[in-house]
Amino acid sequence: MQRLSQDKINEIRQSVDIVDILGQYLSLTKKGRNYVAICPFHEDNNPSLSISPERQIYKCFVCGNGGNVFTFLQNYLKISYIEAVKKIAEMGRIDLSDYQLDEKKAPIKKEYVALYSMNEEACKIYNYYLNTKLGLEAKNYLKKRHFSDEVIEKFSIGYAPIDSILYKSFEKKYTEIDMVKSGLVIESKHHFDRFNDRIMFPLHNSEGKIVGFSGRIYKTTQTDSKYMNSPESQIFIKGETLYNYHRCREAVRKEGFVYLLEGFMDVIAMDKAGIENAVALMGTALTRDHIRMLKRLTSTIHICLDGDRAGQVAASKAADILLEANFNVKIILLPDNHDPDEIYEEHGKEGLMTLLKKTLSPIEFLMEFKYKEIDAGNYDDRKHFLEQMCELISRIKDELDKDYYIQRLSKLSGFSATIIEQKLSGIKPKEIPVYHEVRRVKEMVDKYRGAEKELLFYMLNSKEVALKYEAKVGFMYDDNYRVIASYIVDYYRTHDKLVIADFINRLPKEELIQTVIDISELQLPLPYDEKAIQHYMKNISLNARKMKKEQLLEQFHYVLDPYKQSEILKEIIELEKE
Ligand code: CTP
Ligand code: MN
Repeated sequence: MQRLSQDKINEIRQSVDIVDILGQYLSLTKKGRNYVAICPFHEDNNPSLSISPERQIYKCFVCGNGGNVFTFLQNYLKISYIEAVKKIAEMGRIDLSDYQLDEKKAPIKKEYVALYSMNEEACKIYNYYLNTKLGLEAKNYLKKRHFSDEVIEKFSIGYAPIDSILYKSFEKKYTEIDMVKSGLVIESKHHFDRFNDRIMFPLHNSEGKIVGFSGRIYKTTQTDSKYMNSPESQIFIKGETLYNYHRCREAVRKEGFVYLLEGFMDVIAMDKAGIENAVALMGTALTRDHIRMLKRLTSTIHICLDGDRAGQVAASKAADILLEANFNVKIILLPDNHDPDEIYEEHGKEGLMTLLKKTLSPIEFLMEFKYKEIDAGNYDDRKHFLEQMCELISRIKDELDKDYYIQRLSKLSGFSATIIEQKLSGIKPKEIPVYHEVRRVKEMVDKYRGAEKELLFYMLNSKEVALKYEAKVGFMYDDNYRVIASYIVDYYRTHDKLVIADFINRLPKEELIQTVIDISELQLPLPYDEKAIQHYMKNISLNARKMKKEQLLEQFHYVLDPYKQSEILKEIIELEKE
């Protein structure tokens, strides 16, 4: 098995035409030497995406998304780089059967191998027992809750009988230390299985590997807690687990958003109703890691939490965090303290769908939520509520939206729209102070960055310039530019001409790709003028380190973490050495 080389990747890229590939997903119009299309990466009204057949790259001049065929598929289909390469190879009829196409993702750490395989095996064993005599009552419980065989299979639901079947099966293969580490086996006087007489739901990580289980009781005689989960382990971290995450990608792409639910039973209920774009928290609050995972999935989230007070508090917290992270957020409040599963049971698919369509914007949600909290019969309460809401509405920029919320607030609070408008006109928009000094420095830096950017443009277009940069400058102030410059220099070690669509495959971060595409689109005179290059280089080599040092010193003063401080100091010392 060979590894995929850069040359092979480039061959794959050249086996197709960017116009054909994007044409499969977008409607293209020829415009001069290029093609244009409505950009799928932002809400576009005019065609802002431009595709260059000559250079085999695309670029949206509104949202900035750009790249080659791989970048496009990655962003459009929300797939990994290697998956995009595979897809293009298929389209270009390039045979990759002799190549090792493992994902670039971190290889499984050796010590985790046993943990993953124990969970995998446990799932198979549990699946098996659900269809035996021992699992009959559990299966009947599932039937009563309308779990079809397909659903049971899709979610790999199983049954853990009473007598430590896992321990017995693991005994010959794994160490007791690993068994305990996996959480599937408990050690006290002797070893026994954690899960006894429960219906078992496997939990997967973002890559689809089983990392733990949740087990539910199913008999009225069982008095233990309703759910028991695997304890957190090296491979199972609740704050990094979203039920159904690994399964929902395609549906999320189709629908354009994901439902964020409270319980995994709700995800399954939605699935029964044909809704597959849903994930659930595992009984925890939303964490930063969840946010990172969601970011990779979509930018629009419909939060659907139980309509009870706890659910609403959770919804408002989650909405806060998600809004801050720049998601488009909609909120759904289900009536009568029902969860999606109960709605599905009582009102069926149609009933659930109808309720899911009733989305609230975060402001509407806050209005309704806060209103329920006050004593509507008390005038002071109502007045205070009105003032709070006016404060919220005053931040809205769009006039139509503003009017909409004024009407809503008026209806809800009983105050007239006129008086609300009067109140709003009295609220001054919060002024953002402008510090002239800061602005001056910023302008200087911007101008200087411009020099680095323009030099990069010439480096992309000429090996000579890149070699000069390497010999005479070798450093840029802007972190991204510096990294790009080093990749350019590196590229010319094996090439005489730089092909943008090929070069960007080497860059390790999406952000860098966008930056390179941007720079390559600059309209600067070519071929380069030696004097101009000398000017850039002098300017950069004189200032880059000095400015970088100043920037680090400034950071050093406001960073409090001693570890970070020492890191910054190290960097400063490095700079002084050179
Ligand atoms: N949960 C838990 N331990 C419990 C109760 C709940 O870990 N004792 C977590 C589970 O991850 C569950 C979520 O909290 O998915 C939501 O709990 P709840 O709303 O009580 O469960 P439902 O999803 O309604 O489950 P069911 O319909 O089977 O009662
Ligand atoms: Mn429920």
